[in-house]
Amino acid sequence: MKLLYYPHPILLREASPIEHIDQELLTNAKDMIAIMHQHRGIGLAGPQVGLSKQIIVVNPTGEQGKEQVFLNPKILKRKGRKLGEEGCLSFPGLFGNVMRAEWISMSALLLTGEEVLFEAAEMPARVLQHEIDHLYGILFVDKIQPAEKVVVKTRLRELENAAVAK
Ligand code: CO
Repeated sequence: MKLLYYPHPILLREASPIEHIDQELLTNAKDMIAIMHQHRGIGLAGPQVGLSKQIIVVNPTGEQGKEQVFLNPKILKRKGRKLGEEGCLSFPGLFGNVMRAEWISMSALLLTGEEVLFEAAEMPARVLQHEIDHLYGILFVDKIQPAEKVVVKTRLRELENAAVAK
């Protein structure tokens, strides 16, 4: 398993819901957590490692051991709007301001198979919204403020050229 970068086509695809929690999935989750830390990320979604499945790992504090894994996450309610800077491990060197809900409520399955309902606000809510977007092929660059589009386009072109050169 390795990190995939824009413009890899898997990043644009909608991921499939997870139907079975098996050993392979547990291993995938563990590997995703390792890759997230290795790249100093605070969130990672299945498609970013070539796994077109509804799995995300998040760690908004960046603190090892505080990672959370969610399967088939769904946002139920959103409240408030807040602009904040985001980056993405699949877009190295690119940062931009994205408008997100300030608060969300969410349902998801844990790796234990338990279904959970919970709420998140501020940074954790932002990370969750960003990662859940990945499961629908929605990338943060699509949501960056219009005023920043010029910088974004330049960096996207560089990433596209780097991919072609490989
Ligand atoms: Co991302």
